[in-house]
This record gives sequence, structure tokens and C-alpha cells, in this order.
Amino acid sequence: MAARMQQGGPGRPTGTRFAQFKLVLLGESAVGKSSLVLRFVKDQFDDYRESTIGAAFLTQTIALDASTTVKFEIWDTAGQERYKSLAPMYYRNANCAVVVYDITQASSLDKAKAWVKELQRQANENIIIALAGNKLDLVTSDPSKRAIPTAEAEQYAREANLLFFETSAKTAENVRELFTAIAQKLPLDQASGPRGLGARGVRQGVDLRPETSASQGAMGGCNC
Ligand code: GTP
Ligand code: MG
Repeated sequence: MAARMQQGGPGRPTGTRFAQFKLVLLGESAVGKSSLVLRFVKDQFDDYRESTIGAAFLTQTIALDASTTVKFEIWDTAGQERYKSLAPMYYRNANCAVVVYDITQASSLDKAKAWVKELQRQANENIIIALAGNKLDLVTSDPSKRAIPTAEAEQYAREANLLFFETSAKTAENVRELFTAIAQKLPLDQASGPRGLGARGVRQGVDLRPETSASQGAMGGCNC
């Protein structure tokens, strides 16, 4: 696990906990992965977003309660088929994943299921996976646009042991709830110990990136 946990520390009173986790977003192109991240990190939405090239990196910190802060290091991958082979680089060592589909596009759930299978076979064995059915606003305004019934996706998520939310990056519905539910499921209590030690007290390597509270960058280009 690439989780890191700090008790107290500079600027943090003793008794507070700070944990850092790697999160990866996967899913078919145009389902709204980057839009969900943009909503979560900057509380913004673009009607016309360009497709991600390679992957984008962003961070966001949330307070779970008065004494627990969770920082997500987010890899927003590109859904276009030509970038598929890059994905293992981003989900390797991820603590959690959001697999996104578009509730108005039936094929996007099949693609999401394929990603879940790949994660369950090849990613970290304790990875926490959330399934997000995005573009909820489109069916709220026109129910005939719905291609995937909530109950169908919910049942699949239950069987595959996934968190499940229908979201709208456009209206922000359930976006914060999605990331908060993931944070609540992460192994915060096991992840204690000095900085640089992971959930099982195993050194995880050195993070050479500078610390920022809400930074963003890119691998192979960023469109955020
Ligand atoms: P790739 O980077 O190609 O993998 O796509 P992506 O999954 O990152 O999709 P992106 O966030 O770029 O969104 C694709 C399009 O869908 C954009 O035009 C967004 O404005 C639109 N979109 C994303 N989320 C929503 C949503 O919740 N509701 C609506 N109505 N449109 C959305
Ligand atoms: Mg994108």
C-alpha cells in the first residue's frame, strides 16, 4: 500500500491524523472522469472539456472529522483506447480507484466492468473500488436518456464489492459524497506510524514531489 500516515507533526496538534492515499480514475473516454476530478478539486465544471492526453495529476485534501485529514493523490487517466496500455502504471500501488461510466451510454458500463475485473486481478489486493455512474443531471431533466437502470448497476456493484454512486460533475450531486465514502473505507487506523511508513509499517519508497495542498500537474499533457 502506498498510504502514509502521520500523527501530529508540524502545524498539526497531537491527536490529529493525516493520511495520504493514491487514487486512480478509470473508464471509457467522455464519461466524465476529468470533470468529476475538476468538480472535486476546484468545484468547477466545463461544458466543453478536451479529452485527457496521457494522464493528469491533482491532489485534494478532505477533513473526515475534526481530527482526521485525508489527502488524495489523484491520477486522472485518459479513456481513449490508444492510452489503455499506460493504465497499469497509474493503478499500480493505488489505494483506491473510481471506475466511471455514463448512465446514458450502455457500453460504458461494460467498459467499467472490464476495468473492475482488471483492477481486481492486477492492482493492489486491498484496493478500494468505487463505481460512479456519471451525468445524473441528464436523466433528471429527461428520464428517457437513461440507458442503465440504477438497480442494475447497484446489483453489479454489490456483487463485485464496490462502493456505488450516481453522480453529476455538472451539478456536483454526490461528488463529495463519493470521495468521502472512499476516504471512510480506507484503512486509516492501520496506517499509523512515522511518515514514510505504510499501513503495515513497510517503507514505501521516497516521494520526491513537493508538498502542496492543492496542486496539479500532468504526465503526457494536462487539460485541466
Ligand atoms: P477522457 O479524458 O477522454 O477519458 O474523458 P473523460 O472521462 O475525462 O470525460 P470529460 O470529463 O472530459 O467529459 C466529457 C464530456 O462530458 C465533457 O463535454 C463534459 O462537459 C461532459 N460531462 C462530464 N461530466 C458531466 C456531467 O456530470 N453531466 C453532463 N451533462 N455532462 C458531463
Ligand atoms: Mg479526461
